[in-house]
Order: sequence, then C-alpha cells, then structure tokens
Amino acid sequence: MIDLYLSFNENELQMSKIISGFSKLTKEEKINWLAKNYFTNEGQSIEIIKKYWNSDEKIQQLHDDFVENTLTNFYMPFGIAPNFIINEKPYVIPMVTEESSVVAAASLVAKYWSSRGGFKAEVISTKKTGQVHFMFAGDKVALQKYFEKQKSQLYAATASITNNMEKRGGGILDIALVDKTDKLANYYQLFVSFETKDSMGANFINSCLEAIAHKFKTDEIEIVMSILSNYLPECLVRAEVSCKIEELGGENPEKFAKKFHQAVQIAEIEPYRAVTHNKGIMNGIDAVVLATGNDFRAVEAGAHAFAARSGSYKSLTHCEIKEGIFRFWIEIPLAIGTVGGLTGVHPLAKVSLEMMQKPSAKELMKIIATAGLAQNFAALRALTTKGIQHGHMKMHLMNILNQLEASSVEKGIVEKYFKNETVSHSGVVDQLNLLRAPKIKWVDFLDKEKLRSSLLSLHPNKKAVFGKMTPQQMIEHLSFILELSFGKVKFESFVSDEKSSKRKLFLDTERELEIGFKASLLSNEPRKEKFENIEKAIDNLIDTIEAFLAFYKTPKTVNHPFFGTLDFESWKKFHRKHFTHHFKQFDLNE
Ligand code: MEV
Repeated sequence: MIDLYLSFNENELQMSKIISGFSKLTKEEKINWLAKNYFTNEGQSIEIIKKYWNSDEKIQQLHDDFVENTLTNFYMPFGIAPNFIINEKPYVIPMVTEESSVVAAASLVAKYWSSRGGFKAEVISTKKTGQVHFMFAGDKVALQKYFEKQKSQLYAATASITNNMEKRGGGILDIALVDKTDKLANYYQLFVSFETKDSMGANFINSCLEAIAHKFKTDEIEIVMSILSNYLPECLVRAEVSCKIEELGGENPEKFAKKFHQAVQIAEIEPYRAVTHNKGIMNGIDAVVLATGNDFRAVEAGAHAFAARSGSYKSLTHCEIKEGIFRFWIEIPLAIGTVGGLTGVHPLAKVSLEMMQKPSAKELMKIIATAGLAQNFAALRALTTKGIQHGHMKMHLMNILNQLEASSVEKGIVEKYFKNETVSHSGVVDQLNLLRAPKIKWVDFLDKEKLRSSLLSLHPNKKAVFGKMTPQQMIEHLSFILELSFGKVKFESFVSDEKSSKRKLFLDTERELEIGFKASLLSNEPRKEKFENIEKAIDNLIDTIEAFLAFYKTPKTVNHPFFGTLDFESWKKFHRKHFTHHFKQFDLNE
C-alpha cells in the first residue's frame, strides 16, 4: 500500500515536469521553469545561464532568434591561423573549435608550407543535387513519356524561385527521371542538378524541388518527399602541397616522407584508421565551416559519404612520392556559401569572411580544403614522429589548468615548468599542489645573528609541537648533527652507493624532512642536556656552525647515516632542511 502511494506520488512529480505551451513563455519564465523542475542548485544554474547573455541587447536578440527556446549562448573559441599561402595569395584563416591543438597545428603547418611553395587549390566542380522521391505503379514507358512532356513545365514551375539565381549565373542544370524499381518496388526519382553560385543553396534547392514535385504529381504519381542531397560528389575541391623530399627538412627527410606516405596508405586501405584520419581532417574543415556560419553537419555528412563512395571507407587525403617529389593532396566535396543563411547574419561570420578578403564560395571551398589538408599534415607529422600526445597534452594543459581553477600566475608558472616536461593530468595536479602548499619558511642556518635571536626568543619550557625534546635538547641536537657533518662525531654505518644516489635526490627538492625522520644512529635521542642553560647551548651551536664552515674550507666528504657520502654543498642542503624541521618543532618558523 505504501509502495503504491509512493509510486503514485513519484508519477505525479514526473508528470509535473511535462509542460505544454513552453515556447510561448518568456525567456525568463523558461529559465525559471527549467530551474525549478530540473536543477538541484537553482540559483547557481540560473546565474551561469545569465552570465552568458550578451550585454548588447540587439546582439542577444539576434542569437535568440536563430533557434527556438533560446536560453543563452554557448561560447566556442574563435581563433585564427595566419600565414597560409593559397595559390600564391596570403590568408588568415578563422577557426571555431573547442579542440585545443587544432588552431596551433594549422598555424604551424601554414608557416611550414609558406616557405615551400604554399598550397595549391582548385575547384573541380560545383554541381549540387536534390531529389523528388516518388512511387509509381504504372507503365514505365508511359511514365517516361509523361516526364519528357512535362520537363519544360517543371522548369517553368520554378521560374519565380530561379529568377534571381539565374541572374547570378546559377539555377537548375538538369532534371532527370531515375528508375529505382530494382532496389525498391515502384520507386522512382526526379534527380535534379543545381548551380547555386555563392550561396550554399539549401533553401533554394528545396523550394525548387517542392515546386517541381507539385507540378509533377498526378493521381498515379505519389510524391514521398522532396529534399536536397548532402552527398555531393560533384561539388568537389582539391588542395595540394608538394616539394622536393630534401626540402621537407628535419633530421631525415627521406625517412619522414616514407613514414608519412605509409600512414596515408594505411588510411587508404584500413577503415578503422581512415575514420580517425578523416576525423583529423574534419577538425580543420569544421572549424572554418563554423567560423563562416556554414552548415558543418552537411559538410560532415557529405565528406564521409564521399570517403565511402567506393564501397569501403577510405582516406580523403592522398600522398605520392615520385622522382624525388613529395606530394600530398585532398579531394573533398564541400557545399558551402558566402552569401545567404547565417553567413550574412552572424556578425562574427561576417568578420570571418572579411578577414579572408570576402571570398566567393569557390574561393572559400579552396580555403576550407586547405585547412583540412593542413590539419591532416600536422596530425600525420606528429603521429609518425614524436607521437600525438606530446603536442596535444601541451595544448590540453590550459584546459586542465582551467578545470583546476588555476590563477593566471599559477598558469604562467606551471606552463613554464611543462615547457620541457611531458604533460599529464596528474603531473599538472602535482605542480599546482606544490604551488598551493603553504610556503616553507626555510631557515638560513648560516645567518648566525638571526639564528641566535630566533633561538633566544624560545622559552626554555616551551612544549614541542611534535617529539619529546625540550628547546635546549633540540639546540644541542642541532649542534650534534653539525658535528657529525664534519667528522667530530664518529659512527659506524654504511649506505650503498645505489641507495645513496637515490636518497640524495631528495636534498635537491623543496620538500621538508618528514616528521619522525630519524637515522638509526639517533635511536637514543633525546639525550640529556649537556649545557647548564639554553644560552650556553646557543653559543655552542654558533661555534659549531663556524667549525663546520672551517672544516669545509678545503673540499671534503663526510658520511651521513642515511644519505651516504655528502660534500659541503649537500651537507648545507641537509642542514637547511634539518634546522627548518626543528624550528617547526617549536613554532619558530613564523
Ligand atoms: C584528434 O582530434 C585527431 C587525430 O586523431 C587525427 C589522426 O589521428 O590523424 C590526431
């Protein structure tokens, strides 16, 4: 009974999370409803959502209107890769991506090829297509006749839509009837080809197709749907780099070229590798497609379909080594535009196009293909030489630091540290922890005056924070260990070279001696006090420091019971840690 009651209530609660008329609520109401029903910390989530609103109301309204139910904006970094030379013209390429190494890789490769002839790119074709899919169960010959008779009417039916496009040199290129009944009973298509000039043309194509379908349909011709195709093998662009093998540079250009070539060959025959290989290409392509307000899903779908056109999925790039020349190129379908759609509405898309000197769609196709080729070159160069993680993790460092909420000072220090170290998440955590750990106040035991005044401030009865020593015993202990370091105290002990060299590394760190650290020689500590009072013990300590310095006037080594043979410098490092440790014991470090 109780169970039933509980589940009924739970059900009611779940149902209250279903809402009708949501789109009619104001933005504020939408956020409040969401927060009330789906967030645990309502205030915090609302604050984050609102933080991303643009302070310029007009810009915010523009973004609100791109889609329905907009609550806020989702930032992506907008970076630029300078130094691209494409067909002898310099370009700065805008890139929108969240992946850390993409822009850096593009910039590096751009610079690299700029001194090797740059990129060469050409548009092979710009044909786009769409289909009217329909069912017809009647006579095939009659259908063909009807189509031939209707064809000019089909063009005419789109006149009001194609008028402007035709003025710009575009329009419908062809309408063909395609019999697909061998694949699906009664299934035919009108296969329509288009030239859309500088626009991507999705709306234009779909409007034409719907008008054609409307004109074409009869009682026997049942239209299923009319839609453009994102598979555009005839909207194709090629970008290429080439140079003499010896111009590739590096230690062994022959070996580099050979391995690089092999990496491309692998992606040409091995689908598992090809998908990742092409993903890397799309890192570059999508970033520019996004920055220019184009449809990256369309480009993605078309590119992967093209990669699989032979029946097995293959690399979009190719490589050749012939007569001492290294050649690397990409062929990829790209349906993009530089007018219409978001390209002319999103202020940053306009900025992107402007920095590329307002390219035509064909020029933009060349630029985007180049960005894809450059990205693939960077990935393969890294993969076939020092591996991808090295550079990747370096770029990822900033993400890790942000995740750990590092301040800009901390970022600077950690970045400097990792200049010559391999980045790992745990390594970054360690470095930050080290920076954030309370700073150790190292005691300068050679500053005798300061040392004396600190120790004189110590009340003889002060209780130790750890351990059993009295203040005077601690001071006498410091003298004892100092004596040990210049051979005045003799002991029998042996530390192997292997152990010693490992242990000595600790002396070079900024780490403290651990509480409880005690060499076996000191097992009978604390010893009975030797001097009649603390002042005398301090005087003796200062004298012992002087004796220590005098002893090492000429280079010598003396054994330490734990660290093994130490010279003057190592002993000083040890005493610094040792004094600091005992000052801490009596809260003297402040
Ligand atoms: C990572 O985003 C892209 C790569 O995996 C591409 C590749 O393997 O060629 C590095």
